[in-house]
Amino acid sequence: KALQPTSIIIFGATGDLAKRKLFPAFYNLFIEGRMPEKFNIVALGRADKENEDFKNYVKENLVLFSRNQTSIETEWDKFSSHIIYFRHQIDEENSYKELDEKLKTLDNDYGVRANRLFYLSIAPNFVSVISGHLKNAVLAPNPAQDRIIIEKPFGHDKSSAIELNSLLSRTFEEEQIYRIDHYLGKETVQNILAFRFGNSIFEPIWNCKYVESVQITVAEEVGVESRGGFYEGTGALKDMIQNHLLQVLCMVAMEQPASLDAGEIRDRKVDVLRSIRRIPLDRVSHYAVRGQYGEGVVKGVKVKGYREEEGVAADSNTETFAAIKFYLDNERWEGVPFYVRTGKRMKEKHSYITIQFKPLPQSTFIAGKHPLSQNKLIINIQPLMDIRLQFMTKKPGLTVELKPVEMIFDYFSCKEDTPEAYETLLLDALEGDLTLFMRSDQVEEAWDVVKTIQEYWENNPDPSFPNYSAGSSGPEQCELLLQREEHAWE
Ligand code: BG6
Repeated sequence: KALQPTSIIIFGATGDLAKRKLFPAFYNLFIEGRMPEKFNIVALGRADKENEDFKNYVKENLVLFSRNQTSIETEWDKFSSHIIYFRHQIDEENSYKELDEKLKTLDNDYGVRANRLFYLSIAPNFVSVISGHLKNAVLAPNPAQDRIIIEKPFGHDKSSAIELNSLLSRTFEEEQIYRIDHYLGKETVQNILAFRFGNSIFEPIWNCKYVESVQITVAEEVGVESRGGFYEGTGALKDMIQNHLLQVLCMVAMEQPASLDAGEIRDRKVDVLRSIRRIPLDRVSHYAVRGQYGEGVVKGVKVKGYREEEGVAADSNTETFAAIKFYLDNERWEGVPFYVRTGKRMKEKHSYITIQFKPLPQSTFIAGKHPLSQNKLIINIQPLMDIRLQFMTKKPGLTVELKPVEMIFDYFSCKEDTPEAYETLLLDALEGDLTLFMRSDQVEEAWDVVKTIQEYWENNPDPSFPNYSAGSSGPEQCELLLQREEHAWE
């Protein structure tokens, strides 16, 4: 379907996200012929800049961050003719009037009132100011044509998320709001639904009768990088678990949607979030483990501890690691623990899901010398992108001996050049498809899930911090969380 002419307006166009993710994503969509025939990217920034200077800056960053490098020289001129740098002050009414005029001029050029896609790539405290001005200047009055994309963090707890949703609802209809969680744009995460509901052999065993536990790990090798100031008020629970990990959990645990309709899929996800058993305040330490990295060695390089990072307090109580055991109170998952963990400065970057199946109730092979490994399904999200099914086979030979083997689907054998999450999500937003974006109730419910942990951790500083070395697998207590159930991290 041909896309309508669109003006894409980026607030915070000179920021980090725009240079690393947004411009490269638009560029890759462009060279693949996925952008509307008529479009402009109106890049808003505070500084007085020449258009050409800004374009050169975008080009330099494309060379650094675009997954597609081969065609930059030949395609750049065409792509860059769609970029307009526009000086703009977020808190000045007049700036929005000028923007209005600019957008109207563009509409004249297109020959129609174009769709408008506003991208808020700015600190969360500006959302309310911008949304108020967009309303006053009547910049996004048409629910069918005007959309707004909002980056996380979406609030900092349940009540602030509710407040933010209510504030946005004064300017926008719910179907105009695209709350982005870039994990949902990842190819490997999207594939979970296809894998579960497109195969007759997995869905029948995807439940508490056959599954013993589920693990979701998002390990990062990087530390807080230059974001110490931001991260201090955030931590792993709010930065990763409340959004990315809970969303992945929803994909693994949700019931089959009746259709691929956005509302239907989002309803099934909210069902999962509602069914997650809330952890009582006085039981938080039993279900959740936190950590903070001290100095250490990552891939042979000595690195600082979190408290030594720029912008971080010397006695910081912010967690850079979190692991939680959740239970879902519904028929499908009764009694199955869902373990989630994430951390910075781990020994390697690796995100994956493990579905651990129950052992056979009876087996000829269990007795004596034939120990069986339990069947396992591993979904590697990144940087490895594959699905592995582990099962037992007879070792070829004259004696009867069993060994575990793997059957692997590797994404790279399928398509080498997998789109980046932002490409998928931006294209969906251009097309008006809300499926992979968060609805207001999803966000609020996810905050509710972590509410008591957040409260407990904020009010009870952890005297053991820093409690894991950079380059390790996280704090020791994280292993205990599973050992209690006679499980172990994969
Ligand atoms: C972001 C977090 O949402 O996700 C970062 O704010 C984190 O702290 C990042 O590093 C991880 O994303 P990815 O795609 O690199 O796994």
